[in-house]
Amino acid sequence: IMAEKAGYKHFMLKEINEQPRAIRDTTLGRISLDTGKVFLQEMQITAEDFRNASQITIAACGTSWHAGLAGKFMIERLARLPVEVDYASEYRYRDPIADPRAIGLLITQSGETADTIAAQRELIAKGSKTLAICNVVGAAVTREAQGTITTNAGPEIGVASTKAFTAQLTALFVFALHLAQVRGTISSDESKQLVEELSRIPGKVEEILRSVDDQCCQLAKSFSTARDFLFLGRGIHYPIALEGALKLKEISYIHAEGYPAGEMKHGPNALIDETLPVVCIATKDPNDPSSVLKYEKTLSNIQEVTARSGRVIAIAIEGDDTISQLVEHTIHIPQAPELLLPVLEVVPLQLLAYHIAVRRGCDVDQPRNLAKSVTVE
Ligand code: G6P
Repeated sequence: IMAEKAGYKHFMLKEINEQPRAIRDTTLGRISLDTGKVFLQEMQITAEDFRNASQITIAACGTSWHAGLAGKFMIERLARLPVEVDYASEYRYRDPIADPRAIGLLITQSGETADTIAAQRELIAKGSKTLAICNVVGAAVTREAQGTITTNAGPEIGVASTKAFTAQLTALFVFALHLAQVRGTISSDESKQLVEELSRIPGKVEEILRSVDDQCCQLAKSFSTARDFLFLGRGIHYPIALEGALKLKEISYIHAEGYPAGEMKHGPNALIDETLPVVCIATKDPNDPSSVLKYEKTLSNIQEVTARSGRVIAIAIEGDDTISQLVEHTIHIPQAPELLLPVLEVVPLQLLAYHIAVRRGCDVDQPRNLAKSVTVE
């Protein structure tokens, strides 16, 4: 067993550390650094279909649903195509409005999740073409899809998804770029720049794994006895807040909630006191004005939390001293374009959940009441 874990104490930790490779392998053969072009093989959906599409309808469950929420920002921003994201278990029962020009996108690590397969059947019945982002070659979802982007994360054993998630975010970014290119909503210069930035992500994840593991282990010491946790983010960072909260819930059994930072004043501010750890994703892409604006709004949300004695752990960009002066703990990550930051942000959240769960003596790889793949309703 130790050999299978390659010397790591748990599969989850091994898989967290495999992310640089999983991300790199998901881009392999799909991007050209010379031209900025993106290639998607094995697609029966044509460029024409993508040009005529009225919207993308994403259905998924759990962590894969969080990837879908982030994917919405990528696709809408780059390809200017509306995206709807549903829980697969909700989509199938809400008699969704039929539009054959909508393209369905199922995101699933296993490709065998019963609700996701049912949502795909519903989409097909309504006349939509469907695509899959899936980590298992030949899985059920891929057999009914007209195209698959395989996330090459390799087998994931830990019940809490880690490397499959960052590989899904990578696949979604590649897909959004592809859509933008066939729909002509992106310049070749911008394509080239984003493809280059994407190719730097695995190295940056390696850097994070090296630089923040000890810090997360230390933080776990101070926070492992907390009763509740709050995770905040805005825009594309909000799905990462949800994912951070889900990781913690799944493996440490601490109650955690992800919330859009701007919604705090409409309720959750009432929860803040000196016992509540609040993880705030407060990153920015300094070259992107809308990202900087969001960051500034998040800063004032953080001040609202500290003013009420909440204990803030911030995720911020390297060199951001404004934040470190404001809060108790800051975890720094390298800079990246706004749409790629989620891939970096989630890594410290995975490590934080992991170390807290280990300190609490939980069964990290096989949390109680959960299954790796839910093939029944
Ligand atoms: C289960 C797993 C989660 C996963 C979800 C969706 O709940 O424990 O980690 O995110 O199913 O699985 P899928 O294979 O469709 O991505």
